Amino acid sequence: MTTDSPVSVTREGDLAWVTIDNPPVNATSTAVRAGLARAVAEVQGARVAILTCAGKTFVAGGDMSEFDAPPVEPHLPDVVQMIEDSGTPFVAVMQGNVLGGGFEIALGCAWRIAAKGTRFGLPEVNVGLIPGAGGTQRAPRLIGMEAAIDMAASGMMLDADALLGLGGLDLVAEGDLTAAARGFAAELPVRPGKVSEREAAPISAETLEAKRAAVAKRARGQASPLLNIDALQWAYLPFSDGQPKERKLHLELRQSAESRALRHAFFAERDVARPKAAEGAVPRDLKRIAVVGGGLMGAGIAVASLGGGLEVVLIERDAQAAACAADRVAGLIDGAVKRGKLSEAKAAEQKARFTATADYADAADVDLAVEAVFEDLEVKRAVFRQLADVVSPDTILGTNTSYIDPSEIFDGIPNQSRCLGLHFFSPAHVMKLLEIVALPDTSTDVLATGFAFGKRLRKVSVLAGICDGFIGNRMLAEYRRVAEYMLADGALPQEVDAAAREIGFPMGPFELQDLTGLQIAWANRKRQASTRDPALRYVTISDQICEADRLGQRSGKGWYDYVEGDRNPRPSAEVEAVIVGYSKVQGITRRSFDREEIVARILSVLANEGARIVEEGIAETEAAVDMVQIHGYAFPRWRGGPMQAAEELGWDEVAAVMARLAEESPGSWVLSERVRNAGGV
Ligand code: NAI
Repeated sequence: MTTDSPVSVTREGDLAWVTIDNPPVNATSTAVRAGLARAVAEVQGARVAILTCAGKTFVAGGDMSEFDAPPVEPHLPDVVQMIEDSGTPFVAVMQGNVLGGGFEIALGCAWRIAAKGTRFGLPEVNVGLIPGAGGTQRAPRLIGMEAAIDMAASGMMLDADALLGLGGLDLVAEGDLTAAARGFAAELPVRPGKVSEREAAPISAETLEAKRAAVAKRARGQASPLLNIDALQWAYLPFSDGQPKERKLHLELRQSAESRALRHAFFAERDVARPKAAEGAVPRDLKRIAVVGGGLMGAGIAVASLGGGLEVVLIERDAQAAACAADRVAGLIDGAVKRGKLSEAKAAEQKARFTATADYADAADVDLAVEAVFEDLEVKRAVFRQLADVVSPDTILGTNTSYIDPSEIFDGIPNQSRCLGLHFFSPAHVMKLLEIVALPDTSTDVLATGFAFGKRLRKVSVLAGICDGFIGNRMLAEYRRVAEYMLADGALPQEVDAAAREIGFPMGPFELQDLTGLQIAWANRKRQASTRDPALRYVTISDQICEADRLGQRSGKGWYDYVEGDRNPRPSAEVEAVIVGYSKVQGITRRSFDREEIVARILSVLANEGARIVEEGIAETEAAVDMVQIHGYAFPRWRGGPMQAAEELGWDEVAAVMARLAEESPGSWVLSERVRNAGGV
């Protein structure tokens, strides 16, 4: 036995124990694959080989850092085949997460047993791939086509009991797993036929079509979910035909833009959680927090915080408003119970950690206070003055403002090092993004605590500097601007929206405005009117739509017409007349925009603005910008965010598009250095 291999083999009578020890998650690295291949040879002669993993989990996937390079021998499909063909049969003994290659190894074993609570998955689809070591070929043969589609195409995880019910396990062990493995090995059932030699149970054409349609709808343009279904159908071919097809497609997909983008998103999520600005800082402990303002946002923040195990005191303007806010919070918790997302017991426990009050004194002992009152500088200032009077001088103070400069909000508050922006997205208990806004004096440990707070709330936190709209809303403004320019120059809302959906957004900018209402942005534009740069091209179509009382779905009409009881937008003749009329008054000869051009314009404007944001130090990295877009604005993850999309499109192409935009609307677009360099300007 070699001692430096992550796979060891020990004998115990007629048993052979094969143990994988490759922390942290026993990934199937080259060394693990080589170790397993050697182990198969070493166990020959034993009555049974027991395959286990050290630590908390069985093999929880492949080593993604190896995905960019050409695969190195021994390849996993060959190793799984060796296990399946081994004269000494293997039993997989599993705990923790059995994912991807881990599940494929288990499928090669003669038997599978697992600790209760073990979770199984084929998550390759989440990184734009299909399984590559027989997963799509063996899973349907073992657990049926429908369950295999759910796992491989939808990335659904099954727990041990569910897998047992599907015939995928031989035993779920309640107590000590090693003892259960010994017990199982002592009374070994008759060796079953190889999984690869079984027949996959047929699926009806209707069921398959229904599954395909459901997967396609969720995929929003992502290719790998449907490719997984295709590969699973090869399980109806002989294994010797289906398996090489799976492997070939797996290797092709590793080189795809989609897989690159999804892997980028995976690593970016990890990296944004550790901003350079808070490097080395130790977060403070958080136990009890205050949320001031219990409206739409405050209630959501409170619920997210309760979900993160914190005690929450919510402060409202008066007793009646506090009671309303408490109802809102209870309603959100009850809703989660109704949808099966939360147990009754957990709900009761969360409610017990919550109080609502109109008295700031009740918040005297909190570790952190988040303000989510009206978007009004004076109201917010007054809140922090009152908070500062009751809390300790180093209690962390956060504002959820969307647009007001936090430095102005905290002006005059003692000890500015404890102040920061905590910008949640609506609905705050659902949306994953949290922009953590650093003020000039915010201390690193306060920033680190902001990130620890976000982590407890299971948010993707992104550090942002101060500018109008921070990272996300600043980019949103540019997105809307380019969309409206296109209306003025010849496009119609339905054309722009269709192109945005083609990018993979669930909705286009105009449909989305109809859904959320046009009033707030209208009010904002009126407020900004006096300070707007006169050189900037300002299209008044939005204003005219609002003036025509078309304020969105709630007012029955907006950028589109709606008929009662139907939320589907219908193109509006009145809106078209406003748009065409505007172009005419401005002397613009309308021209048609094809979808490709609209897509390129939207992506280029987002990438250009993202680059400016990084160049100005508002975001630390381009990956951070991508995370804001994916987790706060529904940018399709499979494109990796606008910066990653620009990488794929080519920055020279982005530069060419921006040059055209700048030519059409002189003085209206500020080009990032990134774009200027790429365009040779
Ligand atoms: P909202 O109007 O639903 O709620 C505001 C709540 O604050 C009300 O319940 C009100 O009674 C309470 N309030 C007002 N003055 C108060 C005071 N002095 N003391 C205690 N409570 C007071 O507003 P919403 O939508 O929840 O927004 C709140 C803040 O969150 C705003 O600053 C907004 O910019 C920000 N925000 C809003 C988002 C949204 O999509 N609605 C997204 C991100 C941030």
